[in-house]
Amino acid sequence: MLKVLGIESSCDDTSASVVVSNREILSNIIVSQHSQHKPYQGVVPEIAARAHLDNMDYCVKRALEESGVTLLDIDAISVTVGPGLIGGLIVGMMYGQGLSHVANKKLIYINHLEGHILTARLVNQDLEYPYLTLLISGGHSEFVYVKGPGDYEVIGRTLDDSVGECIDKVAKMLGLGYPGGPAVEKMALSGDYKKYPLPIPMLKNDNLNLSFSGLKTAARLLIQELSKQMPIEDFVNDVCSSLQYSIVKSLVLKSKKAIQEIALQTNLVLAGGVACNLYIQSELQKAISPIRLITSPKVLCTDNAAMIAWAGIERIQAGLDNHKYSLNAQMSL
Ligand code: KG4
Ligand code: ZN
Repeated sequence: MLKVLGIESSCDDTSASVVVSNREILSNIIVSQHSQHKPYQGVVPEIAARAHLDNMDYCVKRALEESGVTLLDIDAISVTVGPGLIGGLIVGMMYGQGLSHVANKKLIYINHLEGHILTARLVNQDLEYPYLTLLISGGHSEFVYVKGPGDYEVIGRTLDDSVGECIDKVAKMLGLGYPGGPAVEKMALSGDYKKYPLPIPMLKNDNLNLSFSGLKTAARLLIQELSKQMPIEDFVNDVCSSLQYSIVKSLVLKSKKAIQEIALQTNLVLAGGVACNLYIQSELQKAISPIRLITSPKVLCTDNAAMIAWAGIERIQAGLDNHKYSLNAQMSL
């Protein structure tokens, strides 16, 4: 059985994990930098890079300790090489390269989005290729037709902001801090989405593309207007509820279209940090039934190294572990 050490440092979580090819996650250490970015209500790249440098050694040591596996027992090291913030990516890549030289282990380069979209197969051993994924994270929002390891077709994507960017920025306007997703989800629970309706993105657009910058602007204008009439506490729940409603309506519309387009009959995989949102999960599942929505535990939706280790395992098993990526922060699938 293969054992791979994964390393992830593309945004604001430093993570290391040991995963076995039988899908056992022996360790998945994640050191979040949220408290360091909170005062700025968003990720500051320079702070992120320095924090990765401070935390990487600890994460890798803990991941090995917790897994009960030594570096000698590891078959390969896989590391995120993009897309993401260049400073953090360099820290992870250099660490992975150093470790692979010292321990004489193969180094596998992994695309961060590949990690997110293959996680469903780490969690579900019955999930066969091909499958359709809706990836919604802080950096990306796209429909990916996953034909096999390394064989991904993006059939629709956001033309501007990702869902996570839209949620995080509206959360910032509402004073909910960073990251905004969990706070918006909580506030929305006691809100009324009908009270202050927001537009539903791409309603009249017939392709598979998404867009969330218009919704972000509409929310900004609404918040500005309401702020003149009452304190934020009086409308924050309703605006969060309305924001989630518009996002879900747009995702449902486009997911149904995507399902039709590729004549999908079985599963739709939901991946990325925004996939943690239980309201989005349940509304999407209701709308696409009888097609099953496949979700993963929250810790595997947001950034983590287990998904990077697993992607390494998939690549080794498919004989695709000799690929070379150049380090490019803009890299996408
Ligand atoms: O996948 P991820 O950890 O990082 C990227 O690759 O971008 O996703 C982070 C995003 C953030 O925008 C965060 O607000 C969002 O995922 N998020 C959520 C929830 N938990 C995290 N969005 C909505 N509801 C949540 N419960
Ligand atoms: Zn991510």
